[in-house]
Parts: sequence; C-alpha cells; structure tokens
Amino acid sequence: MKERGKFIVFEGIGGSGKGTQIELAKDLLDRNGIKAIYTREPGGIEPAEKIRELIFTLRDKKLIKAEGQMVLFFAARKLWVDGVVVPNLDKGANVLTDRCHTSTGAYQGYAESGDQKQILAIADVILGDYKPDAIILLDISKETSIERRGKNVNGDPFDKESSEYFDRLIAGYREMVKTGWGGLKWYIVDGEAKPEVVAESVAKVLEEIFERKLERL
Ligand code: TYD
Repeated sequence: MKERGKFIVFEGIGGSGKGTQIELAKDLLDRNGIKAIYTREPGGIEPAEKIRELIFTLRDKKLIKAEGQMVLFFAARKLWVDGVVVPNLDKGANVLTDRCHTSTGAYQGYAESGDQKQILAIADVILGDYKPDAIILLDISKETSIERRGKNVNGDPFDKESSEYFDRLIAGYREMVKTGWGGLKWYIVDGEAKPEVVAESVAKVLEEIFERKLERL
C-alpha cells in the first residue's frame, strides 16, 4: 500500500490570501517533485457545491442559525471527504485545502457561539481517521480583511457580518492555534505582508511538515 499523502488545511478570514498561498504552495511542491492537489470547502465536488449554495441562500435570508449551518457544512464535508480527500490521500497525493472543519470551529463555534464539543464530535464521525496533518492559519487584521475584500466582492454572506463578528472570528482563530484546537497541529503565519513574503513563511512551514528542504525558484 502507498504511503498516505499529507492533508494540509489553509485557514483564515476572508481576504487572508488562502487561495493565492495554496497556489504558490502547490507550485513549490510540484517543483520539488511532491504531488499535491488543490481543493476547497465548502464545495470542492459538485454535490457539495450545491449544499454550499443552499447554506449561502439560507444564511442570506436569515433562515438558519449556527446548528443548522453546522449540520449542512458537515453534510457537504462528508461528500467532499469521501469523494476528494480520502481517494487522493490513499493514492499518496497530498491534499491542500482552502478551509476544513476548522472553519466550522471558528465561524459557527467562536463567532456564532455554537457548541465546540458538538462540532468536534461530528468531526470525528465525518472525518474519522482522516483528520488534517497540519493547519496553516494566515493571520490578518480586521482592517486588512475589509480593505482586501472591498476590492473583491464575491457574494459571500459571511463577509457582510458585523465588525464584532470579525473580532470574535480573529480572536477565535488565534485561540485555536494556542490550544491546538481539535488535537490538530496548527501553524500561524503573518498574512499581512506581500504575497511573496507570506509564501516564504509558508514554505518554511511546508519544510517542517514534509521534513525536507524545498528548492525555491
Ligand atoms: P468562501 O467563498 O470559500 O470564502 P473565503 O473566500 O472567505 O474562503 O466562502 C465560504 C464561507 O463560508 C466563508 O465566509 C466561511 C464560511 N464557512 C463557515 O462559516 N463554516 C464552515 O465550516 C466553512 C467551511 C465555511
């Protein structure tokens, strides 16, 4: 049997640069002969994208609270885990994802006062033995998030939340790193700098995760 690939999650609030950094990380790994796929949550596979739309619509219309969202995010996650994550990890590919159940912990848990114990219990059912090997939090301030998101409006109802919501979210993420939320291995990277500078910090984290030197360009 092939050695299982690594499951690496990029986390952070809107505008933290997850998408850009995952692309740069994937290129770096490719150049070093390390196969990786790029996926995202919620969605990443057609039926889960439908649930993503549903969550966004219900949320926009204020028809759903933390518990309802939590269940739907995990339903989408199960389709994604079985359809994308497990098959790739099992064939030895590394999976880089934009968000995972750690987002449920931050958004529905910390920002919306959902029950963290319940979130972790459902995560055990849905992810089972396929928990992430590492979480890389791209940490930015609320001001940077607002500035960057202002240029890139994508209809995400979470982006319309109050300033206090973002305070809880940012503090929640930092707390998750401190406490190793979910028994996971967390890394924090300052996401305020230019993409190339952030990418260098991410590259160092990847060297730690893969336990080898990675050749840059
Ligand atoms: P997305 O467009 O992927 O946002 P971003 O560009 O900020 O990553 O939309 C996903 C939104 O859903 C995002 O605002 C965070 C939220 N979310 C949760 O609230 N809980 C979750 O479990 C997940 C995966 C996402």
